[in-house]
This record gives sequence, structure tokens and C-alpha cells, in this order.
Amino acid sequence: MDALKMIKDRRSVRKYKNEKVPRELMKEIIDLAKWAPSWGNFQIARYTLVDDENVISKLTTDGVKGFAYNTKTLENAKGVAVLSFVKGKSGKLDKDEYATNKNNIWEVFDAGIACQTFCLSAYAKGVGTCVFGVIDDEAISEICNIPKDETVAALIVYGFEDGIHLKPTTRKDINEICRFI
Ligand SMILES: Cc1cc2nc3c(=O)[nH]c(=O)nc-3n(C[C@H](O)[C@H](O)[C@H](O)COP(=O)(O)O)c2cc1C
Repeated sequence: MDALKMIKDRRSVRKYKNEKVPRELMKEIIDLAKWAPSWGNFQIARYTLVDDENVISKLTTDGVKGFAYNTKTLENAKGVAVLSFVKGKSGKLDKDEYATNKNNIWEVFDAGIACQTFCLSAYAKGVGTCVFGVIDDEAISEICNIPKDETVAALIVYGFEDGIHLKPTTRKDINEICRFI
């Protein structure tokens, strides 16, 4: 897929076909997502892929704080990626000291880059995604048995898009977000 099309036409997909995404295809997507840059190339992002209906159902009831918008999306989802990251590495130049006044915020930054790389890779491979920030990270950790040295950053619901591809969402004018000095 053309890179410009990939960046501009990716949309948050919330309606999915009643069809599981093959695990092999999801592995190909992660194999692309792993090329995301990261602090110190520490590669702290982890992807736990859930395609078990019972676990998705548990995430629906307990993992999104009852936020109806997300519950509705999860009700027709065939797959959910739990994006987590290994804590306490990004932001440090040596073992103990954080290098900047952002301290450990860089780990969330890494997770964000990994998240978008995953979503773009998925789109390029024909799989729709939707990032969820309204989540209960502790409940999700428990449900999906996420290792104790990791924190859940986001859920990324995925599946084959149902219907025609979504129209572009709005974006701010270039002059509002860009300045030169
Ligand atoms: C950090 C983050 C959190 C988000 N949380 C949610 C969410 O909880 N539920 C949801 O339906 N969409 C969520 N979204 C998707 C945004 O609503 C969406 O990206 C935005 O409206 C632009 O639409 P587009 O992705 O189709 O271009 C989130 C996106 C990001 C990046």
C-alpha cells in the first residue's frame, strides 16, 4: 500500500465482519509494527492478542469502565489487542536515572508510536482497528494475565471492516498546528 494513502485513509473502525482475523495475519502485522522506533531501541511494547469470545466478552463487561460507546464496539469485535509496555526502562540512559524531566513518560510515548505503527500496519494488511483509551487497565491486566512488570497502555480492537470504508474524519487547518521559527 502507498504510504501516503496508508497515513491519510486509515480510520477508526468500529463495525466488523463476523469473521475472525487469522492469527498468522496478526503475526505479520506485529512483525511490521515491531519496526516502530523506541527510546534506546528498548522495544518495550508488547501485544497480547485476544480472539477468544469469552475473554472478549469479559473485556466488554469489565475492561472499559462501562463506557457504552466502547461496549457497543466490543460487542461486534472478533479480536482485541492489549497493548502493554515493560515498565521502568524508557527515559533512562543508565540503569537508575531518568535522563529528562519527563521521567518515565517516555514509556507512554513509545507505546503511542507502537500503537500507530500497529494500526497503520493493520490497515495496510486489510485489517481495521480502533484504539481505546477509555479502559480499566488494572482489570484488563487481571483478565488477560499481563505480566506484573508491564502496564496496559490501550486496547486496540481489530477486525475486517464491515461495509464501505469510512469517510475521512476532520482535521485542523495546517496553519493552526504548524509554525516556523
Ligand atoms: C489515545 C486514543 C484514545 C482513543 N480512545 C477511544 C475510545 O476509547 N473509544 C473510541 O471509540 N475511540 C477512541 N479513539 C479513536 C479516536 O476517537 C479517533 O482516532 C478520532 O476520532 C479520529 O478518527 P480516525 O481515527 O477515524 O481518523 C482513541 C484514539 C486515540 C489515539
